[in-house]
Amino acid sequence: MCIGGFNEFAATKQAIDKVMNALKDDEATTIGVYGMGGVGKTTMVKYVGAQAQKSRLFNQVIMAVVSQNPDLIQIQETFAEMLDFKLEEKTEIGRAIKLKEKIMRGTGILIILDDIWKRIEFSRIGIPNHNELLRCNSKVLLTTRRSSVCQIMESHAKIRLNILSKEDSWSLFVKEARKSFDKSSNFYDVAREVVRECAGLPIALIAVARALRDEALDGWKEAARRLQVSQPPNPEDEGDVFKCIKLSYDYLKYDDSKSCFLLCCLFPEDYDIPIEYLLMYGIGKGMFQDSNMLEARATTYLVVKALKDSSLLLDARAEGCTASGSW
Ligand SMILES: Nc1ncnc2c1ncn2[C@@H]1O[C@H](COP(=O)(O)OP(=O)(O)O)[C@@H](O)[C@H]1O
Ligand SMILES: [Mg+2]
Repeated sequence: MCIGGFNEFAATKQAIDKVMNALKDDEATTIGVYGMGGVGKTTMVKYVGAQAQKSRLFNQVIMAVVSQNPDLIQIQETFAEMLDFKLEEKTEIGRAIKLKEKIMRGTGILIILDDIWKRIEFSRIGIPNHNELLRCNSKVLLTTRRSSVCQIMESHAKIRLNILSKEDSWSLFVKEARKSFDKSSNFYDVAREVVRECAGLPIALIAVARALRDEALDGWKEAARRLQVSQPPNPEDEGDVFKCIKLSYDYLKYDDSKSCFLLCCLFPEDYDIPIEYLLMYGIGKGMFQDSNMLEARATTYLVVKALKDSSLLLDARAEGCTASGSW
C-alpha cells in the first residue's frame, strides 16, 4: 500500500502495529523504535504521528530531531512553535520549566524525539517524567539506531524496524528506477545484483535506483561492480548506506551538483540550509564563472532540485531552504 509516497512495506506494517499497540497501553509512556540508518524510522514515526492524531488517539503531535549533537534550545524552540507559544526565557532550565508547564496543561500530546544517539534527560528539555506523562495522558515516541538507547532512555516498549524483504526491496527499486525489468532483458540480472547490494534499506534502494534510471547497461554493470568492491572508510560506519550514497554522488551528471552537495555537507545534519547561502558559498568557491547573478541563482535552484530528486538532499521545513540528510 502506498499513501502519499509512504509505502506500508511488510516490515513497516509489523513495526507500526507494535507501536500502535504500545501507544494504546495505559502504562507505557516511553516507546522506543530502533533500526539501522536509512531503514525508515523517521518516515515511519511521522506516519504514525499523523495516524494517531487522525484517529484521535492523541490531540496533538509534536516532533523534534535530536541528532548526534543535540541542540536543546533548538529542540525546545521547535516544540514551543508546534504548541503555538513563545519561550521568552533565556536559560535552558527556565525554558524547560515553561515548556513542561505548557505540555502538562494540555492533554493527550504525543512527543516524538527523532534520532537519539545517547542518553538525554527529559527534564533538561522540559518533557514531563513518567508519572507526569501518565497524569496528562501524554507519551514520548523516540527513534534511535541503537537498541541500547531504548534501554538507557527507559522505554517501556522497544520496537525494531527491520530491513525490507527481498520482494519489497525489489518493488521499491523497480518503482524508483521507472523500468520494468523483464526477466529476459539484459538489465534483469544486473538489477537484481544491485538490489542485493542495497541490503533492504529504502534510502539506498531509492538513491541507487534514481542514480541509474537513465544509465545504459554499461553504467548499470559498472555500478554493480563498484557496489560490490566498495569499502566504507570507517568499519564502524553503516557501509551499505555509505556505498549507495557514494554511488549516487559519483553518478551525478554535473560538477556543479557535486560541488553543491559538498557545500551542503558543511552544514549540521537535519539543518535547513538557505539556498541563498549555497549560492553565496558557490560563488566564493568559484562556481558559476560565466554567469551573471540571475543565472547563478537559477542554476543553484536547479541543482538543489536535482539533488533532491536524487534523494541526496531533503525538503526543508522552511521556505527557500533545503535540508541535509542524516545518514
Ligand atoms: N515506508 C516508506 N515509504 C516510502 N519511502 C520510505 C519509507 N521508509 C523510508 N523511505 C525512504 O527512505 C528514506 C530514508 O528513510 P528515513 O525515515 O529517513 O530513515 P531513518 O530515519 O531510519 O534513517 C526516506 O527519505 C524515504 O524516502
Ligand atoms: Mg531518521
